[in-house]
Parts: sequence; structure tokens; C-alpha cells
Amino acid sequence: MTTNQNLKPISATTVENTLYIGGCNTVELTQKYGTPLYVIDELTLRTMCREFKHAFAKYPNVNILYASKALATSGIFRIIHQEGVGLDVVSGGEIFTAQKAQVDFSKVLFNGNNKQLWELELAINLNIGRISVDNFNEIKLLSELANKFKKPIDILLRVTPGIDCHTHEYIQTGQLDSKFGFDLSQIDEAINDILKNPLLNLKGLHAHIGSQIFDDAGFKDEVKILVKELARINTNYNLNLNELNLGGGFGVKYTEADTPPDINKFAESIIDTLNTELNKHNLQNITIYIEPGRSLISTSGVTLYTIGSEKQVPNSRKYVSVDGGMADNPRPALYQAKYSCDIANKMNDEKSEIVTIAGKYCESGDILIQDTSLQKTCPGDILCVYNTGAYNYSMASNYSKSQKPAMVLVNNSQSDIIVYRETLEDIISRDNIPDRLK
Ligand code: LLP
Repeated sequence: MTTNQNLKPISATTVENTLYIGGCNTVELTQKYGTPLYVIDELTLRTMCREFKHAFAKYPNVNILYASKALATSGIFRIIHQEGVGLDVVSGGEIFTAQKAQVDFSKVLFNGNNKQLWELELAINLNIGRISVDNFNEIKLLSELANKFKKPIDILLRVTPGIDCHTHEYIQTGQLDSKFGFDLSQIDEAINDILKNPLLNLKGLHAHIGSQIFDDAGFKDEVKILVKELARINTNYNLNLNELNLGGGFGVKYTEADTPPDINKFAESIIDTLNTELNKHNLQNITIYIEPGRSLISTSGVTLYTIGSEKQVPNSRKYVSVDGGMADNPRPALYQAKYSCDIANKMNDEKSEIVTIAGKYCESGDILIQDTSLQKTCPGDILCVYNTGAYNYSMASNYSKSQKPAMVLVNNSQSDIIVYRETLEDIISRDNIPDRLK
């Protein structure tokens, strides 16, 4: 079983009825750092990086890029960098964070459907490895920037292969009616535009078919379409494009009902299909990129909350409220995402109740987990929600003027802050009262 198939971080253990992660007593972590608290298990994150590398090592030229939108902090970027994994960034903010984390920019790729001028300039100044060109406007912009900086820019062409990969509609990206990338029918026009400027150095194609994918069929189709296109382009334009970026999207296990294939299985089908298709089209020495976000980081993260008030609706649900909710984890409200949880200080107790975990924000949709079995709760207990490493902190908000939680990195019985909890002063630090209101 590989790490993406775990519900809990690898280092999770129970000692005297209490959950330990990274050798740290989770209840003591909450006493030291407060709640809600994001906890990242370093061992799981490093293991996942290594599992990805190992799984894809059967193909000779693979670059793994962490899709940093899943969780972008300088501390996490340091670990990713130390593991020899590159980054996929989608904003000036992520680029700046990567710069502060001193990552190797030759292993960074910049994606996005509406990159801003300042973001592109920042990327080019930092000698970013690749820019994935998303649309005609961007080709023009990049061509102007290449001339302005008198620098060649290595680019990939983002295409929409038209694959329906059976995931939530909001997180599908490869289907035909998509805001991302060039339709296959637009590729020729795009290439003609790119070839007009010799400073635009087209290296290959890029696609991303969706997120939280459990079925390898979509990846196989993607490989077939991309290899065929690459071969066609090379022949028609007498080019030697030799890079394919297949995107990310590998699914993880949020609840017992989820059965994602392990990473080896995904890698095997991708590599097998790739080898067959490359042979068929007589292509050699093709470098591939993959961009896992969720599957690299998700399982390493948990969120600890303190349980507060409870409400038993007569003849209906029991609501157990925690001191966080949709501001630190908007995924249930946005995508009907499901999670699993435990009472961290009652790990061995029987899960004797079915309860609904409610957030503290003033709207009915702020439900973290509906109808989950749980140990009997009382106010002050610590709730641990698993698999919150991806797209929780990165999509957190200050809704209701809440302060974003702290994040600690745990390993070998040591805990270190990697994101400080926001203070009350922080949340008004960008407010301004104009003189005329004083
Ligand atoms: N590459 C590209 C071009 C992407 O757009 C994405 C994610 C990834 C890689 C990484 O996908 P992953 O391996 O993490 O599935 N906020 C949503 C997920 C949005 C994903 C968007 N693109 C969620 O919370 O489920």
C-alpha cells in the first residue's frame, strides 16, 4: 500500500488512547500552539516524494513537479526542494514564496490561464525553467517580453485534450469546454505564432485532465493524444519537441469508501502507454513531467480542532461544533468533499455515535463532516480531521474576520511552526480608515 492510499499520516500511532503524529502527542500540540491547528507529518511528505520518484523511475526521463497550489509555504517548499522535486506554480505569490524558499528555479514551471505581466516578468527574471503558454494573448505577451529582456524563454504549449475523467465538475480541467489551454484544433495557429519569434523556445506540450482521479483510463487517453500530437507537430514543422507534461490529479483516500489506485499503478499504466505510443510514432528521448499536488501533500496533513458546543436536534441529528470550519477548510462547502476524523484523546474508545461535525461560521453550509461515526464527545475534546494537507490552508480565508490557523511540522518527536497563527492585529493590518471617516 502506498501513501496515497492511507487515511492517516504514516507516523500516526496511538499511545495511551491519544493520537501521536511525528512522535508528538497531538493533545500537547494543541496546548502548545492552540486550535485550529494544521499539522504536517514530515515523514509522510518525504515518503510520498520518494514514492513518486520510485514509481516513475521505470521511465528514464521524468521530472516531478509539486503542484504548489495544494499547499504553498516556504517551509513546505524547502522540503520539496530537498527531496529533489520541482514546482508547478500558478501565481506571483507562489513564485515569490519559492524565491524565499531558495528553490532551484530551473525546476519550476509556471502555469495559468491569465498570467499577469508582473508575474511573467518576475518568472523570467528568476530564470524560471518553463512557462506553459495557455492562450494566444499570452504568446504575444511572452514574445514581447522575450524581446524586451533579450532572453530565450522555454515554453510548453498547454492543450485541452478533451478527456472526461469522472471527477467533480469544478475540478475537471481537460474537457473540451474549458477555460484552460488551446483546443486541439488551435494548435497549428499557436505554433505558427510561436515560431515567429526565435526567442520563444517551444519544448513540448502540457495538459492536465483533472483532480482526485481514481481511474487510469483518463491518463492513458491523455498520453495517446499528446504523443500523437507531438509526433504530428514534429513532422509537420520539422521540429524536435521532446517534452510532455501530463499534469497531476492522482486521487487520495479521504474516507474508507475511497479506493484510489496506488501511485505505482498509475505510473505503470502511464509508462506502459507512453512506451507503446512513442514506439508507434517513432519518437525517442522524450522527457515527461508530472505535477502531483494533492497526492504529494494531502495525507501528511491533519487539522486539530477543539470541540465546543453540541446540539441534539430532537429525533434527528446530533451536531458537534468545532472552533474552525469553512474558513480553514472550504472543501466540504465547495465540493461536498468528505473527510474522516477521530477524537484525538479517545483513540481507543468505541465509535459509538453518529454525529455531524459543524464549523463555527454563521451559515448552515458550514458543515465539515456529515453523519460520521465518532467516539463519544464532550466539550474540550480534540477532534482530528485527516487528509487536510491539500487545498485546505491554501484555500483558507479570513471569513468572519477569523485568523488563519498556525501550521506545525512534526517529525521525530519534534514540532516546529511553519506558519504562525494570525493575530487579531494581523487581520486588521491591511484595513484603513480614511481621514474623512475619523
Ligand atoms: N497541474 C495543473 C495544471 C493543475 O491545474 C492542477 C490542479 C494540478 C497540476 C494538481 O492537481 P492535483 O494533483 O492536486 O489533483 N481546489 C480543488 C483542486 C483544484 C485542482 C486544480 N488544479 C480541491 O480542493 O479539490
